[in-house]
Amino acid sequence: MPENRCVQGIWTSPWLFILAASGSAVGLGNIWKFPYMVGENGGGAFLFVYLLCMLFVGLPVLIAEVALGRSVRANPIDTINDLHERHIINKAWVLVPYLAGLAGFLVLSFYSVIAGWALAFFERSLKGVFTETDEVQTQSVFQELISSPSEMMLWHSVFVVLVILAVGQSVTRGLAVLVKMLLPSLVLMLLGLSVYSVLVGDLDQTLSFLFSWKWNQITPNVVLAAVGHAFFSLSIGMGGMFAYAAYMSKHMSIARACSIVVGVDTLVAILAGLVVLPLVFALNINVDTGPSLTFISLPVAFGSLPGGQLVGSAFFLLLILAALTSAISMLELFVSWLHERFYISRLKASLLLGVGVWLLGFASLLSLNDWSDWTVFGYVLFDLLDKFTSLILLPVVALLLSVLVALNIPRSRLENELITRNPKHFKWWYNVLKFFSIPIMLVITITGWIGV
Ligand code: TRP
Repeated sequence: MPENRCVQGIWTSPWLFILAASGSAVGLGNIWKFPYMVGENGGGAFLFVYLLCMLFVGLPVLIAEVALGRSVRANPIDTINDLHERHIINKAWVLVPYLAGLAGFLVLSFYSVIAGWALAFFERSLKGVFTETDEVQTQSVFQELISSPSEMMLWHSVFVVLVILAVGQSVTRGLAVLVKMLLPSLVLMLLGLSVYSVLVGDLDQTLSFLFSWKWNQITPNVVLAAVGHAFFSLSIGMGGMFAYAAYMSKHMSIARACSIVVGVDTLVAILAGLVVLPLVFALNINVDTGPSLTFISLPVAFGSLPGGQLVGSAFFLLLILAALTSAISMLELFVSWLHERFYISRLKASLLLGVGVWLLGFASLLSLNDWSDWTVFGYVLFDLLDKFTSLILLPVVALLLSVLVALNIPRSRLENELITRNPKHFKWWYNVLKFFSIPIMLVITITGWIGV
């Protein structure tokens, strides 16, 4: 395919894909979700399985998704259609990219509610609410926010508007520039905060929590949670990386680009763990508190830091931007499809989807307060969307896309796309995907569902 075929343009530098993909991967999943998932799932056992999943499932599946995306240089739906029209794959596969787009849409609906919490905390931090605060006070600040539908609605709406405006632009322009500034600042800030947290927090307990485990702690639930979170954190199984890959320069090695993205994503998550957990132990907050963990522990740290008002505000601002660069990727699949196929402008397409996200997000934020009696399988809508996407939809779509790549696309096509310097690398990836990642995803998903 000629380099310039993609309707929406190509990232001119090979690095821009890495930046955009890292922007998608690094988000609330790393800073908000990872620390509390580790806390809820027994610490070391979860971390150990999570790292294995990133390496042996996440990375090979990410490479598969990106290889597929770059091969046709169109949006994921048209890519699969194209492969079908050229008789490479069966018609049934055409359904998969729609499922992937649906996953992104559903995730965004609750993701923007949480990004709204970050906005609310940003405002409070600017106002100095967290100066000299303690965990009891921050807990009540958080509680107050959760029990106010109107305030959550306000911030959720602000975030959705930001997403619509951002996705309305071309992702081959602004996005990479934003991520280029954002990522280094985020890593530096997390490094600085982790030093502080390690100094004032309880490092011993954190290290023994993170790095020791007993085999019997590795239950099907923990494994399923780890795989689900690896997919969530790498944004795979929703076609965002697939869509971005269409804009990727042919000169970049896919394997190298994906390894860097996985490395950056893991690093940010571990740093976030090292910021949150020592404080949690020092303050005697329960590690299995759940989604509020990061929002309760961090403001206490900011409150006691010199210049904490500023540091805290800067941190929440970075968190909001990280959430934004992830959110953009969640809508990209459908937006690029509507734009390329139906010639709808990107802005109109994102407005259309954004309204849907906004409404669903509204329902999910209400499920945290006014509608909390309404549950399915014991979960309120907010938790249901989270569990359904990370434990079912993302693993299933990731599995289907991997099967598509490993068993249905001719090997020579993949070899051409992946161009690894050392042919052994290709073989390594291909065999791991086929004989390890796919069977493992199957087993884990099924045993996990039975165990849940
Ligand atoms: N990876 C992002 C994070 O860690 C979230 C994300 C972006 C995502 N795109 C996704 C999650 C698609 C699930 C599906 O915050």
